[in-house]
This record gives sequence, C-alpha cells and structure tokens, in this order.
Amino acid sequence: MIRPFSLSDLNAILKIERESFPKSPYDRMTFVHLHSLYPEHFLVYTGTTGDKEDRIWGYIIFSPEEHIISLAVLTPQRKKGVGKELLQKAMETPRLKGLQAEVRRSNLGAQAFYLRMGFRIVGAVPNYYGNEDALIIQWTPSISGRA
Ligand SMILES: CC(C)(COP(=O)(O)OP(=O)(O)OC[C@H]1O[C@@H](n2cnc3c(N)ncnc32)[C@H](O)[C@@H]1OP(=O)(O)O)[C@@H](O)C(=O)NCCC(=O)NCCS
Repeated sequence: MIRPFSLSDLNAILKIERESFPKSPYDRMTFVHLHSLYPEHFLVYTGTTGDKEDRIWGYIIFSPEEHIISLAVLTPQRKKGVGKELLQKAMETPRLKGLQAEVRRSNLGAQAFYLRMGFRIVGAVPNYYGNEDALIIQWTPSISGRA
C-alpha cells in the first residue's frame, strides 16, 4: 500500500536512507523539513513481512517542481516492484509534465531501474557529489508513454 508519510514513520525511513545512501544520508531534520514542504509528495510503501504488522519498505519524495528528491527501498525488499510502484505513483500526479533526478555515475542499479521506467539520461554534473559526477535523468510522458 502507498500512503502519505507521517512523522511516526521517521525511524523506519532513516534506516532505509542510511543503508541506501551510506555516503550522504539525509538526517532526521531534513526529512522533517521535506515533509513540511511537500506533505503530499512524500509517500511511503508499506508491506507485511509475516508478523502481520505493516512495515515501511520504501519511500519517495518529489517536489512540485518535478524533481525526485529521494527514492529508496529496503534492501531485502528490492527487485519486487516496490520502487516501480512508488515511482509510478509519482508519474501519475495530475498535471505533471515530467520528472527529473540526479543519480551517482557509479549507481548502475538505479540507472538501470530508471531506464527501465522510461527515463533517459540527459546530462551530467561534474563533481555534483563532491568527488563524483551526477547523471541527470529525465522522464516526460510524451517520450516514454509509460505514464
Ligand atoms: C533503485 C531502487 C529504488 C529500485 O527499487 P526496486 O524496488 O528494487 O525496483 P523494482 O523492483 O520496482 O524494479 C523495477 C524495474 O527496474 C529493474 N531494476 C531494479 N533494480 C535494478 C538493478 N539494480 N539492476 C537492473 N535492473 C533493476 C527491475 O528489474 C524492474 O524491471 P522489470 O519491470 O522489467 O521487472 C532500489 O534499488 C534502491 O533503493 N536503491 C538504493 C537507493 C537509490 O539508488 N535510489 C535511486 C537514486 S534517487
């Protein structure tokens, strides 16, 4: 199930963030700030792991300026369609003209994921992450038709 983030999800989100982006994880206050800025664009995916309790498996944050700020899935739950569902939800936002994100040049898994989802690499920003380039990836409904 996909639903809006609430503050009680924070610890679960921080765990996913730290394991997904060990070089530059967002901290607690950043997530609180992002939630206050974009409450409708901070979504979590909940799943059941066997103990009947819903757990946070992944999240996406994107801005009204059509920028994906973060997208991550708990490691054991990857390659099961969670990221795809979260991204599709963002792609289905009414009146959306496209989405853009930055991905580390070394993050081949995320690049493969975004390309599979209909994104294109449209540029690069040297040393965006300090000592590593970012690739700029972009999706528009008319290019991919996958919306
Ligand atoms: C990138 C990420 C969000 C993908 O989430 P996921 O839930 O594993 O992806 P899905 O299972 O929904 O995959 C959707 C499609 O992408 C493909 N894909 C996903 N990860 C892939 C990988 N590492 N290599 C190749 N293809 C991949 C899947 O095979 C699937 O293709 P299909 O539709 O043909 O079956 C997840 O790997 C992650 O959290 N990575 C760490 C954080 C990160 O890099 N975020 C992106 C930068 S903002």
